[in-house]
Amino acid sequence: VKSEYRKKEGKFGVMVIRGIELSDAANFLQLCKTLDEETPFMMLEPGERNTTVEQQSQMIRELNQTKRSLILVCEIDGKLVGYLSAFREKYRRKRHCVYIVIGILNRFTKRGIGTQLFDRLEQWGEAEKIHRLELTVMVHNTAAIALYKKIGFQIEGIKRHSLLVDRTFVDEYDMAKLI
Ligand SMILES: CC(C)(COP(=O)(O)OP(=O)(O)OC[C@H]1O[C@@H](n2cnc3c(N)ncnc32)[C@H](O)[C@@H]1OP(=O)(O)O)[C@@H](O)C(=O)NCCC(=O)NCCS
Repeated sequence: VKSEYRKKEGKFGVMVIRGIELSDAANFLQLCKTLDEETPFMMLEPGERNTTVEQQSQMIRELNQTKRSLILVCEIDGKLVGYLSAFREKYRRKRHCVYIVIGILNRFTKRGIGTQLFDRLEQWGEAEKIHRLELTVMVHNTAAIALYKKIGFQIEGIKRHSLLVDRTFVDEYDMAKLI
């Protein structure tokens, strides 16, 4: 889906939300590495990601062949600025659920991209007979929790000390939305 994106200076850029392609491998890996540096709210520490472009390519190839899971990317003027991944396990009793991860570069946040990524995810989810969207979020990640609640996710539980961030144990919420 192509739309206009209003830049901070008031100019418009071209924004595209689409499924990831094999040719995105190197740029997607770089996006993930930048997010590792930029935000303490995702899983990997800065410098911890040791995936190679070849491994990333293989992952995208498998994803696009099996179509079991989905990675959406947001591209603005040709540059990847964010993504949403939705992973689905293969077993039949769990196939109606997806586990979601989302990350948007800081300078592109608060402009509706997260909401649009979730809209696209739900379109795919309906077509794929997905019934349950799941995610985990650090309890102090107020921006993300506000987004998730706004679009209908509910807190189902708390995972105490489930992460160790900068030598401090951090709790996470389990959140989910039925669609
Ligand atoms: C969390 C994140 C995905 C939100 O994406 P986004 O594109 O900024 O979200 P949107 O612009 O669509 O905002 C949707 C709603 O989220 C809430 N929100 C977003 N940013 C917020 C902030 N900084 N403070 C408070 N609420 C915020 C608001 O309710 C907003 O609705 P509104 O615009 O009507 O007020 C993005 O900030 C991000 O990637 N952060 C870093 C990585 C991260 O935390 N990932 C999630 C890990 S679980």
